[in-house]
Amino acid sequence: MAPAPSTYSVITLNVNGEKYTLPVDHRTTLLDALREHLDLTGSKKGCDQGQCGACTVLLDGRRAVSCLQLAVAAEGRAITTIEGVADGEQLHPVQQAFLDLDGYQCGYCTPGQICSALGVIEEHAAGWPSAVTADVRPEAGTPSLSAEEIRERMSGNLCRCGAYVSIVQAVAQAAETHTAQSHTTETGTAETGTAEGRSDEAKEAAA
Ligand code: FES
Ligand code: FES
Repeated sequence: MAPAPSTYSVITLNVNGEKYTLPVDHRTTLLDALREHLDLTGSKKGCDQGQCGACTVLLDGRRAVSCLQLAVAAEGRAITTIEGVADGEQLHPVQQAFLDLDGYQCGYCTPGQICSALGVIEEHAAGWPSAVTADVRPEAGTPSLSAEEIRERMSGNLCRCGAYVSIVQAVAQAAETHTAQSHTTETGTAETGTAEGRSDEAKEAAA
């Protein structure tokens, strides 16, 4: 009689640029591996069934709900959690925008919101349309990241505190900063405006 197949494997996860080798039950989700095995508790468990976005991380730069991802399937991929977003003590512009514009209340959904916002900004910069993009023809170009676009693109991230108005403002501000930094990198010019000015524009965009 053949031996029963093992339900455990030793895997190596690449999280925030660090490699972690750990034994996991094959049924372990990436969220549980992060939180329970690696003690990276920034990613939150809200619903544990792909409905709330609290567990959002980036896999190879794209958004994923880690409660629906098996840890064994994440081997070999670059995993970014909220713990890996800042550059040392320097907050990422998306984190700074959430701080500047009060994009949270209790903060439970915030790590997922920020990781999702990172994905949104990259997806938008790459020209991806959303469900509310009026003209999806390639020749129409990239839609502006309006409040409506941000709400649709962030709609997988729920906030029980209802901080949505500030979250939309924060994503708008972070997207502006990203665009300005990209422009600076491309042209070598520094034309970013003031943080205060950007906040005002972000508020107008979300109004
Ligand atoms: S905990 Fe993963 S989507 Fe809610
Ligand atoms: S800030 Fe409390 S759930 Fe979003």
